[in-house]
Amino acid sequence: MDIKTVYLGLNLRNPIVIGSSGLTDSPDKIKRLEDNNAGAVVLKSLFEEQINAETHRTVNGGINDYPEAYEYIEKYTRHKVLEDYLNLIAESKDSVEIPVIASINCVDDEEWTSFAKDIEEAGADALELNISVLPSDPFKDGKDIEDMHFKITEKVKKTVSIPLSVKISYYSAGLAKLIYNLSASGNVRGITLFNRFYNPDIDIETLKITSSNVFSTPDEYTLPLRWVALLSGKVDADLAATTGIHNGISTAKQILAGASAVHIVSAIYKNGFEYIGEIIKEFENVMINHNFATVKDMKGKLSFHNMNYNRAYERIQFMKYFGGIT
Ligand SMILES: Cc1cc2nc3c(=O)[nH]c(=O)nc-3n(C[C@H](O)[C@H](O)[C@H](O)COP(=O)(O)O)c2cc1C
Repeated sequence: MDIKTVYLGLNLRNPIVIGSSGLTDSPDKIKRLEDNNAGAVVLKSLFEEQINAETHRTVNGGINDYPEAYEYIEKYTRHKVLEDYLNLIAESKDSVEIPVIASINCVDDEEWTSFAKDIEEAGADALELNISVLPSDPFKDGKDIEDMHFKITEKVKKTVSIPLSVKISYYSAGLAKLIYNLSASGNVRGITLFNRFYNPDIDIETLKITSSNVFSTPDEYTLPLRWVALLSGKVDADLAATTGIHNGISTAKQILAGASAVHIVSAIYKNGFEYIGEIIKEFENVMINHNFATVKDMKGKLSFHNMNYNRAYERIQFMKYFGGIT
């Protein structure tokens, strides 16, 4: 049985990618993830604001122009963050064989985009751009928000030759078209569906705003499943599924829907690094039970495209199931 997959043009020994998070913020953890059989890792994101501040500092002539101690410390700290990130890439690449994918969390196409070149030079195998825009402004047009995805990816694509992937959220009125156009732009090789935002909640005792669960639950996997299934085979990009994938069975479902890989985070936080082995075992059992010799045989078998446009993936009403419940 062959569980290898190709993702972003990279050869992965299995489709389990450990997603961007605190699990991937040190070379030591990345080595442990490799020892526990991860297929690849996406490093913890660097934030656009951190890079922009550093760019401004360089453009303005350096820290000597800022005599105030506070500013000095602030700039020094930011500079250190960038240096640390490049070291994280370089040191991780030195200590593991699996692909190391860097990540930038961005909302705009400002000067930070030139930093992508440093990331490439530090040795990253690919770069994931986590475009984190919440369409929360009632005066901002949806099209402007979607256009930003193209501005960012186009600008970064001009600075690097490593494969680019874009991690998007599901907040889009024209989600299928957005994904299709991103793949058709030729700027990105992969699309990660979907970024999981923290949601606010209200504590009913204290009437204070709190944050809801930081970690996903195992039933959330159906959100990316639908969109991977609807779009795989139709878009010319590798799709990675993320959110709610907690075991080998939901991994197998995403591959059957057409994903090239899955990004897993919460399940590893909850169960430890050794749990990767269990996910893989369970995934292999699905392959054995259904006589799939390779991931390639399995990939997209149950996509919308391959299921003769089975409308189940488009169904959104529960009438058929709950029509009789009063
Ligand atoms: C503690 C924590 C930190 C995260 N940090 C990042 C990050 O820096 N960049 C990013 O793109 N996603 C980040 N994520 C999102 C994850 O990469 C992933 O997309 C999300 O958690 C859904 O996958 P899951 O259901 O397996 O947790 C983070 C998630 C968690 C739980």
